[in-house]
Amino acid sequence: DPALVEAGEKVFKKCKACHQIGDGAKNRSGPVLTGIVGSPAGRVEGFKYSKALTEMAENGLVWDADNLHAFLAKPKTFMKGTKMSFSGLKKEDDLAAITAYLKSVAN
Ligand code: HEM
Repeated sequence: DPALVEAGEKVFKKCKACHQIGDGAKNRSGPVLTGIVGSPAGRVEGFKYSKALTEMAENGLVWDADNLHAFLAKPKTFMKGTKMSFSGLKKEDDLAAITAYLKSVAN
């Protein structure tokens, strides 16, 4: 749904302080998010993840629409100890849109 992807690109403004995505993206205070949907957590080269994320990754966390929704709604509830200092997205519409946008920016 192109309209949802476009809405998600606007929501991504809230992530841009810490994350880059797409061509030429580099790790900042957060890891590059290109191709994140469908990919194992904690896989970005050169990024130093928290112990919390590393443990969930070792336990097999793969980012899909459902767990991204849960993480982005309440990062510190979904992942106790994460170093992502983001309070979360409150609106269901924003959560659906950001997931569609992230999915649209593949590797
Ligand atoms: C990690 C998405 C906002 C900092 C992550 C991960 C995702 C994500 C999917 C896991 C990446 C992986 O496993 O490789 C988003 C989205 C945001 C957002 C969609 C906006 C809605 C932010 C903001 C900050 C931030 C505003 C900084 C204040 C981080 C950090 C990590 C991270 C430091 C690593 C977490 C850890 O190792 O525990 N983010 N993020 N993010 N993000 Fe965000």
